[in-house]
Amino acid sequence: MQYHTPVLLNEVLALLITKRGGAYVDATLGGGGHAEAILKHLTRTGTLIGIDADDDAIQFSSNRLSAFAQQVTFISSNFNNLKSALHLMGHEHITGILFDLGVSSYQLDEPSKGFSYRSDSRLDMRMNRAGSLDAYTIVNQYTEERLSEVFWSYSEERLSRRLARVIVRQRAIAPIETTGDLARIVEGAVGKKFLTQALSRIFQAIRIEVNDELENLKIALTDAIDLLEKGGRVVVISYHSLEDRIVKQAFKEAAATSIASGNKLVPDTIVTPKLKILTKKPIEATESEERENPRARSAKLRAAEKL
Ligand SMILES: C[S@@+](CC[C@H](N)C(=O)[O-])C[C@H]1O[C@@H](n2cnc3c(N)ncnc32)[C@H](O)[C@@H]1O
Repeated sequence: MQYHTPVLLNEVLALLITKRGGAYVDATLGGGGHAEAILKHLTRTGTLIGIDADDDAIQFSSNRLSAFAQQVTFISSNFNNLKSALHLMGHEHITGILFDLGVSSYQLDEPSKGFSYRSDSRLDMRMNRAGSLDAYTIVNQYTEERLSEVFWSYSEERLSRRLARVIVRQRAIAPIETTGDLARIVEGAVGKKFLTQALSRIFQAIRIEVNDELENLKIALTDAIDLLEKGGRVVVISYHSLEDRIVKQAFKEAAATSIASGNKLVPDTIVTPKLKILTKKPIEATESEERENPRARSAKLRAAEKL
């Protein structure tokens, strides 16, 4: 089965691996494509911890990576638990950490996960099946105001208010059960011309809310920077501007040499920077990678090194 094609693979390897016998973390294991390539580049003393919130990803990757059983450990968890999970394993420092954000092709294509408007399945969108909030609850229970706020904040969808209004009107007649039901409501509100863009924005917004993706990313980045050893690297691939902005900001703050006082009369506070930014501008996929893997089209890679 083709679970997921790793994006910007050579760029990840070149930026992430600084010591072939080091201790690495793949915080978004998915189908293990990046993880396998990382392990192939390590010596026998090199190790990798693979984390994913989705048990299917852990299961798939543990089979795929069975040849590296001595060097790899799997953690089925949200990456917002990074620090405590690594602490429990006795790891105080790591050599490198990769975040390849969002969902895998498998998650999108598997109807039972309820992520995609391309199939008609129960509204779910939880990466972790144990999570208490799902897309059904958001669509059927959030107030109109809250729905419109989710759409606006997480997708910058111009028609957020109108969409929230029609959803609330429709669910008063009958619950909105499936991705297909929701897609038809969106189509009724925005028409055919801009439907695909509107659908991907709305589905993205609900997915971000279900999985609290932006908050988790902020927490994990702070912890990742703390956990890196001197010279260790953090590499992040993001797929939309909200994520990329968080990564850019987190790196900028950690690389800062002073904190502005905000008052002309008070001097700025001098601080010791924790990071050196390695990618002034984010790295994007080449045209040929984009042709072969459409998912790579929106990818932006940023990397930084611990000082
Ligand atoms: C784009 S895929 C990674 C693909 C992987 N690099 C590969 O080569 O197959 C993202 C994966 O990260 C996981 N994920 C996303 N957010 C997560 C989080 N907060 N905690 C743990 N896993 C997360 C998803 O479940 C998904 O399997």
